Amino acid sequence: MSFPMPPALTAAIESLATGRRQGEMAQRSASISASYRQGRNSQAAIASPDDVVAYLSARMPATFAAVSASLRAASELMPTFAPSSLLDLCAGPGTASFSALSIWPEISSVTIVDTNPHFLIAAQKLGEACGFTGMRQAKFLQSPLEAACGELERADLVMMSYALVELDPAKIAELARRIWSRSSGLLLFVEPGTPEGHRRILICRDALIREGARLVAPCPHTAPCPMSPPAWCHFTQRLPRSRRHRLAKGAEVNFEDEPYIYLAFARSGVAHRPSGRIVSRVRLAKAGVRFTVCGECGGLAHENVSRRDRDAYAKMRRAGWGDALLSASSVE
Ligand SMILES: C[S@@+](CC[C@H](N)C(=O)[O-])C[C@H]1O[C@@H](n2cnc3c(N)ncnc32)[C@H](O)[C@@H]1O
Repeated sequence: MSFPMPPALTAAIESLATGRRQGEMAQRSASISASYRQGRNSQAAIASPDDVVAYLSARMPATFAAVSASLRAASELMPTFAPSSLLDLCAGPGTASFSALSIWPEISSVTIVDTNPHFLIAAQKLGEACGFTGMRQAKFLQSPLEAACGELERADLVMMSYALVELDPAKIAELARRIWSRSSGLLLFVEPGTPEGHRRILICRDALIREGARLVAPCPHTAPCPMSPPAWCHFTQRLPRSRRHRLAKGAEVNFEDEPYIYLAFARSGVAHRPSGRIVSRVRLAKAGVRFTVCGECGGLAHENVSRRDRDAYAKMRRAGWGDALLSASSVE
């Protein structure tokens, strides 16, 4: 499944980019990506409206796709979840909000928190252009999350995407507990699918399991994560690259694969409990299908489904990395 950004959002980004020189934007995108790869934060990487436009062209389609895939995975297990309020923390240009609104356009209350004024101005402009009422009427709060957290009203859906990597690791557990206290429904973290992204997701996982929060996805268990270095849990989401996206990245192929990791906790409304989740590529070979499953007992199993087992083979050859394994008995 692919998650392209809504056409009105793409058009709004095109319009913000109009008049800016393509070569310069590509250079900015490259230096923003290099800066993130070196572990520098957005305060350093995004220091002007031009930097924001470069981020919107080069990074936002991928973070949008990763957040959308994560929301889909969580909502698949909570089919009746229908949020009306949304808190987007460390929101940048509002990527996670646009993703949530694409799934639940009826969300009427949106609060966007970030320290970076350039990102907040862009989020507001994109919100005005994109046609979602919730986004047009959104509240924008320029503040460090640590200072704002206690003042924020609880929301049905609380999200934080690609930001744990910018926070002090020693403060993440406490902050995760404070963020959880702001959620009355679903809390979703999404991070880059890197060893460091996974490490920070695990800090939140441990803290919130101890807090008694209900883990929805991706893990089918609350035992310690069985992936140990050099392996780390992550998924990939393929996304199409528009011409502007290709130019911004100096890339030739018309798609990219975004590695990401996510974590979803809920207060209630979880209807399905998967017996496992596929945590590797699904490899099709002559003899059958091979993949790795993280199971409900907390262990990894390398599965091999033979072509001779026709029903199982027919089912698994269509399965993909990140899919939950559901059976009739997984309905709660
Ligand atoms: C890589 S950007 C991700 C933006 C957006 N969530 C996305 O997925 O595209 C990280 C964002 O976190 C924000 N941020 C980092 N530390 C923060 C803090 N302590 N309080 C509020 N915002 C913060 C940055 O300003 C930046 O907008």
